[in-house]
Amino acid sequence: MNTNFLHTDFIIIGAGAAGLFAAGKLTQLGKTVRIIDSEDKPGKKILISGGGYCNFTNIHTSPSHFISDNPHFCTSALSRYSPYQFIELVEQYHIPYHEKVLGQMFCDTSARDIVKMLMFEINQNKLILELQCKVQSVTKSDIFFVHTNKGIYSSQSVIVSSGGLSIPKMGASCIGYDIALSFGHTIIPTKPGLVPLIVQAETFPYSDLAGLSIQSEIQTEESPIFKEGLLFTHKGLSGPAILQASSYMNHINSVTINTLIDPSNYAKIAQGDFGKMDWKNALSTIFPKRFAYAWAQYHKQCETYSHYSEKTRKLFAEQLMNWQPIIAGNEGYSKAEVTVGGVNTKELSSKTMMSNKIPNLYFIGEVVDVTGHLGGYNFQWAWASANAISISSN
Ligand code: FDA
Repeated sequence: MNTNFLHTDFIIIGAGAAGLFAAGKLTQLGKTVRIIDSEDKPGKKILISGGGYCNFTNIHTSPSHFISDNPHFCTSALSRYSPYQFIELVEQYHIPYHEKVLGQMFCDTSARDIVKMLMFEINQNKLILELQCKVQSVTKSDIFFVHTNKGIYSSQSVIVSSGGLSIPKMGASCIGYDIALSFGHTIIPTKPGLVPLIVQAETFPYSDLAGLSIQSEIQTEESPIFKEGLLFTHKGLSGPAILQASSYMNHINSVTINTLIDPSNYAKIAQGDFGKMDWKNALSTIFPKRFAYAWAQYHKQCETYSHYSEKTRKLFAEQLMNWQPIIAGNEGYSKAEVTVGGVNTKELSSKTMMSNKIPNLYFIGEVVDVTGHLGGYNFQWAWASANAISISSN
């Protein structure tokens, strides 16, 4: 049979995490699905995720781990598909996995295991997989027409799972937002999230520390406190704590970094027994030497420990607890793990992910204005939002 232009129940735009998971669920329900992707293979972002090991979920997932203009929207889908349900699936396929830290579940062997599993979940008799096929627009009369560089395909329903704008060289495009706008939806302004920050060069004497990591507590005006690693880069700061904070920032926000997270270290600095030791060497008993030296040099703390009064030492400790680097920007979509913002959730059903404006048009995954913290939450949202459609189609 020539399946080229066969009419299907669903066309899914984007063979990423959300699209593949939805295809699995829908074909198992007997629905015919055409899944279209501009790339040459499905699940490309999954393959590079988690450093190649895919942090596929987080067992602590709750709505508080997501950023959205409409914070309660994600609750319904998340409550109907838990991290443990995905873990159960992973176990069914005998994929070895482990918890790394903070509830983050990773593959032991390779992210390829997850893509293989998602492909295996799809009933191939019901699927047409259309790769290297770029969607250009979607129109609707009584059915949908998906216009691509390979021709026009028709379906009863369309699922937009085309992701965000991060990593354009892996297929990211604005098509999901364009489709939403063309059907009268609004878009919550997008920006790079989970992205390294650039610090104003004149106030950043730490570029030589690139690659060095220290523990920290980081907060922005609107974010919770993130207590994780901070990584120095040539241009500024990265590492889990900074990436987390970056998703909450816009250009006017500042970030406050506490590098002295162990309270006993405050006492050690203020009232320590370091006598004639150079201040920078005293700091080296707490921090990596390279950081201690660079910090002391930049702050002109060049004397011995005992040269400074306890009051001054407390002030120095407070500097370490209240570092506010001047942020010049971020490294943009080419380095961002996610896109914050997206299709306005006030115009979607939280139960089914269907458009409130256009029946049988759905939006799932990262294209929607729901952005997870770092740590497996974004994939959990992809699975849970895809699952919501299948429940409604049953
Ligand atoms: P996704 O981006 O996966 O898929 C969208 C698909 O649509 C792509 O395949 C794209 O090619 C296709 N597409 C776009 N435009 C198109 C067009 N015009 N025509 C046809 N197809 C088109 N999250 C997590 O929870 N744990 C982790 O370990 C990581 N690690 C990680 C590492 C890196 C480097 C990045 C960049 C991101 C992560 N993430 C992550 C985030 C996670 O990858 C992301 O949130 C999900 O992949 C989103 O899934 P979606 O299916 O919504 O989009």
